[in-house]
Amino acid sequence: MKLEIVPDYAELSRRAAEIVIAECRKRPQIVLGLATGATPIGMYRQLVQAYQRGRVSFLRATTFNLDEYYPIAPDHPHSFRRFMHQQLFDQVDLAAERIHFLRGTAADVERECSRYEAELEAVGGIDLQVLGIGENGHIGFNEPGTPFHLKTHKVALTEQTMRANARFFGSLADVPRHALTMGICSIMRSRKILLLASGEKKADALAAALLGPVTEAVPASVLQLHPDVTVIADKAAAQRLA
Ligand code: GLP
Repeated sequence: MKLEIVPDYAELSRRAAEIVIAECRKRPQIVLGLATGATPIGMYRQLVQAYQRGRVSFLRATTFNLDEYYPIAPDHPHSFRRFMHQQLFDQVDLAAERIHFLRGTAADVERECSRYEAELEAVGGIDLQVLGIGENGHIGFNEPGTPFHLKTHKVALTEQTMRANARFFGSLADVPRHALTMGICSIMRSRKILLLASGEKKADALAAALLGPVTEAVPASVLQLHPDVTVIADKAAAQRLA
């Protein structure tokens, strides 16, 4: 595992974008695994700028997003799908047919999860997976206690996660209680993983994930078992790593 501690969020965003850009240049037909949440917003901004300056193209790239609330309409103002369109998809040259998303409106959840896994399989898996980390150590929406062997599945969100995400919805009552997420097993199959952590609220989770035992109680701790993980943390998030 490679750990890069950077001074602040701006530098984290720049570094993360540079890694994504380098991988896209190496492999224009790259399969990217993408995350939502506040953490990658700065990285997406950097990617859009790099695209506008002609430093990177996503024309041949494929994307898979980690997760989506359930139920939620794709055009709901707080759906992860809408978030991605605003932050990245609508501002770069990604081909619509190569953008993959879990459908928060799917009637048959099991079928939806199998469809996603089949699509991942069909493209040969993810080359570079970007991850944030929840305050409770979750990755994607794999909450503490999620078995490591699970593939894409439906989850009940914890109270803590719903509270953390209420900032986007305005009120806790409006946060969907469930989500669909790529499982730990699906995430661990990625060839390369980039984990981003910013701010002191993530310090405990990051320390538990990187320094603690590998346990389903801290989903991100599974990354200790992956052969190619880069963690970029700002000083605030890295304060308990010493
Ligand atoms: C969200 C997402 C995760 C994200 C995490 C942290 O709920 N499902 O993919 O990494 O929680 O979010 P943030 O970056 O806003 O702190």
